[in-house]
Amino acid sequence: MTLASSPAIETRGLTRLFESRKGFLFREITRTEALRGIDLEVERGAIFGLLGPNGAGKTTLTKILSTLLLPSAGVARVLGHDVSRETAWLRPRIGLVLGGERGLYNRISGRENLRYFADLYGVPLGERERRIDEMLERVDLVESADRRVEEYSRGMKQKLHLARGVLHRPEILFLDEPTIGLDPKSARETRKLIRSLVSDGVTIFLTTHYMFEAEELCPRIAVLSKGRIVAMDSVDALRRLVGGDRTLEAEAYGFDDRELEALRALPGVSKVVTEEFGPVMRLTLRVRTGDLGLEEVRSVLAGRPELSLRERRTSLEDVYLDLVEEEAR
Ligand SMILES: Nc1ncnc2c1ncn2[C@@H]1O[C@H](COP(=O)(O)OP(=O)(O)OP(=O)(O)O)[C@@H](O)[C@H]1O
Ligand SMILES: [Mg+2]
Repeated sequence: MTLASSPAIETRGLTRLFESRKGFLFREITRTEALRGIDLEVERGAIFGLLGPNGAGKTTLTKILSTLLLPSAGVARVLGHDVSRETAWLRPRIGLVLGGERGLYNRISGRENLRYFADLYGVPLGERERRIDEMLERVDLVESADRRVEEYSRGMKQKLHLARGVLHRPEILFLDEPTIGLDPKSARETRKLIRSLVSDGVTIFLTTHYMFEAEELCPRIAVLSKGRIVAMDSVDALRRLVGGDRTLEAEAYGFDDRELEALRALPGVSKVVTEEFGPVMRLTLRVRTGDLGLEEVRSVLAGRPELSLRERRTSLEDVYLDLVEEEAR
């Protein structure tokens, strides 16, 4: 296999342990296994989404893949090169945008920040100003470009981070919660920018807590939970994995065990979850298209005149919650 045809990202048994000291004289050592044997393969030229609860290990994985942090065990290759040993080759080809406001120089303007990072990344001087103008335009910061960054709002800083992350035209871009703190219009423009980078040929590895964002942007998604990948596939395949692309919801003033049993026994029903909302009880059923219709459910629950029934497509949020709950059990 030539390097050019190697996957964008490839990991085998990737593990990361953190040791921190606390307590009296910091004698107590706590060990956290942030990543426990990650096997991952990400193709070039697309957006790969990484989802998972707080503390699952997303930022740790992002930092290892972008050469910021060393693994404790296992291997990771990005663009065919080892992230622990080939950092000099990799760094100019990698872009990284971590969420948050740190990492910018507050006392100077946005434009001056970009000049600083352009020089640091080795952007040719003759191209520098043109690229900076282009990036300011793409993240909609032209009007504030010459204000000091300390005067920027959180969202403006996030946009400047994004501009900084792609200034050197990386082949692969790591985005850790890129739209956090952005207003809806800016978040949408950021997603548009992300898509346009992909059409320029950039591979993107993205973490997010926004399910619709992952669904909209990412042909392939991995769900990380407690340092392990619990599922990895397309959104459609993940819908099938959790038992159905359709979700039926029934609401009434309570359901009894006999009804629940009868619903569970219907062909094609993979899951029945009950939730209470004050006096109202909601049943959620995961089903596959073609296996079951609303009418069959209605006939089981015929004794409830107040019944409200609806059907919708299983969302990525449903899938995510199913996967993460299953893992927690
Ligand atoms: N420098 C560190 N020292 C000790 N423990 C750490 C360190 N960095 C991360 N951890 C631990 O590793 C685990 C994974 O953290 P990580 O930041 O990767 O999670 P995450 O999936 O990015 O979460 P979030 O969605 O909240 O950003 C957590 O248990 C965290 O406490
Ligand atoms: Mg994180």
